[in-house]
Amino acid sequence: PTIYAITPTYSRPVQKAELTRLANTFRQVAQLHWILVEDAAARSELVSRFLARAGLPSTHLHVPTPRRYKRPGLPRATEQRNAGLAWLRQRHQHQRSQPGVLFFADDDNTYSLELFQEMRTTRKVSVWPVGLVGGRRYERPLVENGKVVGWYTGWRADRPFAIDMAGFAVSLQVILSNPTAVFKRRGSQPGMQESDFLKQITTVEELEPKANNCTKVLVWHTRTEKVNLTNEPKYHLDTVKIEV
Ligand code: UGA
Ligand code: MN
Repeated sequence: PTIYAITPTYSRPVQKAELTRLANTFRQVAQLHWILVEDAAARSELVSRFLARAGLPSTHLHVPTPRRYKRPGLPRATEQRNAGLAWLRQRHQHQRSQPGVLFFADDDNTYSLELFQEMRTTRKVSVWPVGLVGGRRYERPLVENGKVVGWYTGWRADRPFAIDMAGFAVSLQVILSNPTAVFKRRGSQPGMQESDFLKQITTVEELEPKANNCTKVLVWHTRTEKVNLTNEPKYHLDTVKIEV
């Protein structure tokens, strides 16, 4: 099956560095299609140029987050992930039995190559541990006799699926047979996006544990430090135009 990676991304000084790390990983994965969704009113020059040289099968989408949702404490990238889902459904509307696996790959996380081997065998919805998240070294699904029976987490243990966006994959079949499943702005608190989405397509009992019964961390919720630009000149002082 093809792996479809939906990556929301937005313009900031570290954007190209993040996308470079991600492309360097994805380039080593067979049959991966990158769906890069810019949080912007139009496709940017920077991302267009970057993707053209990335050497990866890709689709370049864009949708701006409405200004009222760009606030601390509100979930991010809702509209961008939904745009990726809509594209996938549209593309497969006449070829409904093609094998595929979807996962949500934020642009700042760190992904091991082993993770892609694990998720490729997803039948419906698979799950695995995520490192450096929830105020702990890792969060993970608790597994007994091959089934998920609970969650090891230090944060909001009341979540029906106490899992980060980087901790699950969904088969294309499930995405196509649940055409109304989307990320919702209304009533979705931060940290509940994953649960609100997963509730629409699966149950805890049905989850398929990966990464040796969820005992190996293969993806890390790394976050990039905000860059220090205090010495940046107000106007372009350099002698030539620089691609950065
Ligand atoms: C955590 C989760 O890991 C995310 O999956 C979740 O979307 C997010 O919380 C949330 O609050 O909604 P965190 O590291 O705090 O992640 O979030 P970011 O990495 O800053 O953003 C998640 C993704 O959305 C990234 O790919 C980022 O590039 C993108 N993003 C972020 C936008 O497209 N627009 C924005 O304004 C901010
Ligand atoms: Mn992040």
